Amino acid sequence: MPRKKYIIANWKMNLSLAQTLSLAKKFKEKFKGFKQAEIAVCPSTLVLADTAKILRHSGIALGAQNVFWQEAGAYTGEVSPAMLSEAGCGYVILGHSERRKYLLENYEIINKKVRAVIKNGELIPIVCIGESSEERKTDRRDFVLVEQLEQAFSGVEIFGNQRIIIAYEPIWAIGTGTAIEPAEAEYAHKIIKLALNDIVGMRLVSQNFNVVYGGSINSKNVKSFADLENMDGLLVGGASLNADEFFKVAKEITK
Ligand code: PGA
Repeated sequence: MPRKKYIIANWKMNLSLAQTLSLAKKFKEKFKGFKQAEIAVCPSTLVLADTAKILRHSGIALGAQNVFWQEAGAYTGEVSPAMLSEAGCGYVILGHSERRKYLLENYEIINKKVRAVIKNGELIPIVCIGESSEERKTDRRDFVLVEQLEQAFSGVEIFGNQRIIIAYEPIWAIGTGTAIEPAEAEYAHKIIKLALNDIVGMRLVSQNFNVVYGGSINSKNVKSFADLENMDGLLVGGASLNADEFFKVAKEITK
């Protein structure tokens, strides 16, 4: 039996609160009875708790787009892993390239977040990695992917059946409308798994880790990704802002 795939919608900061709730309702309607994959939506932090109410008993999971690494205290503006879990989240995106770029999240920050989420144990981290177009052109991709993984998981202890998702998101393919060639994604996913074997060990990689692809996936190009051996799902931005389109993506990848 093929492994269940993860299909995760990253709504970023695209929607108003009202638009988010309306889209969540459409998702609930659309995915009624859909059991072929794990579906999760990641709206803005501000509207997580209300979205959780809408998604109750829908089978659709909730994820946050960011978290802080401390459990509680004087950290103005921040939100802890426990708070996300209390709001109904099962997932959290970490180290997205947009946060690395605009919020200057560096290796140390991302590593602290990975540690905090795994220590808390209630959330599945979706750790984003990926090379820039410059790094790809200069043949540094493999090195960059390995380094990002080494830094993110440095000193991280993984317990029991903690699930961890790595999202391979080539920066040059995000939001451009042009996804990577499937063969290139497959190659990168293999590199990721080999690197993880060295970092955390083969047993954990096969039992606890999944690798998903993200970057300009839509209902048209998704077909060619369906059979990739080392791909366990998708992280979808633009195409997840429309329930019909996202549903088509989910149907195609689970055919
Ligand atoms: P995109 O975004 O599908 O719009 O390229 C993916 C992401 O950034 O997670």
